[in-house]
Amino acid sequence: AKKAVLGPLVGAVDQGTSSTRFLVFNSKTAELLSHHQVELKQEFPKEGWVEQDPKEILNSVYECIEKTCEKLGQLNIDISNIKAIGVSNQRETTVVWDKLTGEPLYNAVVWLDLRTQSTVESLSKRIPGNNNFVKSKTGLPLSTYFSAVKLRWLLDNVRKVQKAVEEDRALFGTVDSWLIWCLTGGANGGVHCTDVTNASRTMLFNIHSLEWDKELCEFFEIPMKILPNVRSSSEIYGLMKAGALEGVPISGCLGDQSAALVGQMCFQDGQAKNTYGTGCFLLCNTGRKCVFSEHGLLTTVAYKLGRDKPVYYALEGSVAIAGAVVRWLRDNLGIIKTSDEIEKLAKEVGTSYGCYFVPAFSGLYAPYWEPSARGIICGLTQFTNRCHIAFAALEAVCFQTREILDAMNRDCGMPLRHLQVDGGMTNNKILMQLQADILYIPVVKPSMPETTALGAAMAAGAAEGVGVWSLDPEDLSAVTVERFEPQINAEESEIRYSTWKKAVMKSMGWVT
Ligand code: G3P
Repeated sequence: AKKAVLGPLVGAVDQGTSSTRFLVFNSKTAELLSHHQVELKQEFPKEGWVEQDPKEILNSVYECIEKTCEKLGQLNIDISNIKAIGVSNQRETTVVWDKLTGEPLYNAVVWLDLRTQSTVESLSKRIPGNNNFVKSKTGLPLSTYFSAVKLRWLLDNVRKVQKAVEEDRALFGTVDSWLIWCLTGGANGGVHCTDVTNASRTMLFNIHSLEWDKELCEFFEIPMKILPNVRSSSEIYGLMKAGALEGVPISGCLGDQSAALVGQMCFQDGQAKNTYGTGCFLLCNTGRKCVFSEHGLLTTVAYKLGRDKPVYYALEGSVAIAGAVVRWLRDNLGIIKTSDEIEKLAKEVGTSYGCYFVPAFSGLYAPYWEPSARGIICGLTQFTNRCHIAFAALEAVCFQTREILDAMNRDCGMPLRHLQVDGGMTNNKILMQLQADILYIPVVKPSMPETTALGAAMAAGAAEGVGVWSLDPEDLSAVTVERFEPQINAEESEIRYSTWKKAVMKSMGWVT
C-alpha cells in the first residue's frame, strides 16, 4: 500500500521512573500518531534504597523506538518523516559510567532513594556562611532528593567509581545525559551533555549564571571534570547512531516536569500544571525571574528553548509518592492486580470511611521536607476493607496536591483559578473528581494526556537547524480539554483536609 504523506514528524522519548515510552507526533497538528511503552523494574536492595539498571533503561528506549517505528509502518507512515527526537526524563536520578567501555559503574541511584540521609545531615552542619548557601544558588533545599548527594555517595562507597575518576574514565549524568551519550554513539563519540532544566536538579548548578558552580562542587567535593556540558533545552546535541532512526538529530531535552509545562503550553507568567506520575509535581511558570518560596517550594529552571533564547523559571511543589502508591498496593499488598483496578475498588465505596493514608515512603517532600516521616494508614475500624484503603490512597494524592497548591497560592499571591493536569493517573475519573472536590477549583485535563512527551517533541522540532515546529502562540494548536467541577461543598472539603493534616503530623518522626 502507498505510504501516507503527513509532513514532518517528531519523536519523543519519555523516560519516567515507572516506564519508558516513545511517541511520534505530527508537528503541524500536535496529533499523536503512535507510541510504545515498556514498564521498568525498580530495585530496593535495602530499606530506603531505590535503584534502577541504566542498561535496562537504555534498552527500554531502544525497544520503544523500534516498536513505535514498526507500528508506524503498519499504519503506512514513512518513518523517514521523523525529523527530530526530543528526550524527557525522570530527573535527579544519578548514573556514573566508564567512558571507554560504556559500562555503568553502579546502578542508577533513583531520585526517591534515601541512603544519603546521614550525608545530608553531616553536610548541613558544615554549610559555609548562612544556611542559604545551597538554596540561594540552586533554588533547592539540601535534601536526599537531588543528584549531588547521590553522586557523593557513589564517590565515597563504590571502588569502581573512585578508580574510574582517578583514571579519568568516569562520566556523571542524570538519565538524559546517560541516554543522549549512548544514543549518539556511547564509547564511540557519544555526546556528554545535559540541559539547563536537568542541571538545575543536581544541586551543583547555579540557576542564575546557568553554569556548574565551583563553590558548590567544592562543598560537595565533586570533581568538575566528570560533569556534562550544559546546553539549552532546544538545540541539536547529536545524531542517533543506531537503530531504525539512525541519523535523526536529537534536538530537545527537558526534565519531565519541565517538558510537561511546555506541553501544557504554560508559557505565561502564572500558568501552572500538575503532573501525576510516580510522584506528583506542580510547576508554576514565574517568567524570567527566580522567585524564592517562603512555603517549602523549589525554584527551578522551567526551560530555555534555544541557545540564544531567554531562560524561564518555575516554582515547583514536589510530592514524592503519587502513582507509586498504586504500584505499592499492587506489588506489595496485592489488593489490586493491575493499576487501573484501583478506580473500580474506590468506586465501590465512594469514601475512605474515615481512613487516611499518608504514603510518606521516602519521607515527605514539599511543603514539609521531612526525611523522618514514614507511611501510615490510620483511622481503621473492623469495617475498613481494601476498597476504603484504595480510596484513601487516591485521596492522599489529592490532599498532597492541595498542600502544594496552597503553598503555591501563598507564594504567588494570586490563587490559581483552575488546575491544569496531566500524567497517567489522570485517566482515573474518580481521582480527578476527588481532586476538584478537595481543591474546590475546577480541574482541567487535556484530551491528549501525553503532555510530557509533547513538550519534548515541541522543543526538538523547534530547534535551530530542525525548524519543523513553531512555538509562536498563534501557531500552537488549541488544546481540547475535559473539565471536572467541584461537587462537594467547601466546608466538607475543609473538614476532610484538616483530618488529613492530623494524619500527616502522625507520620513524622518515625526515623531518627
Ligand atoms: O523529580 C522526579 C520526577 O522527574 C519523576 O517523574 O514521571 O517518574 O514521576 P515521574
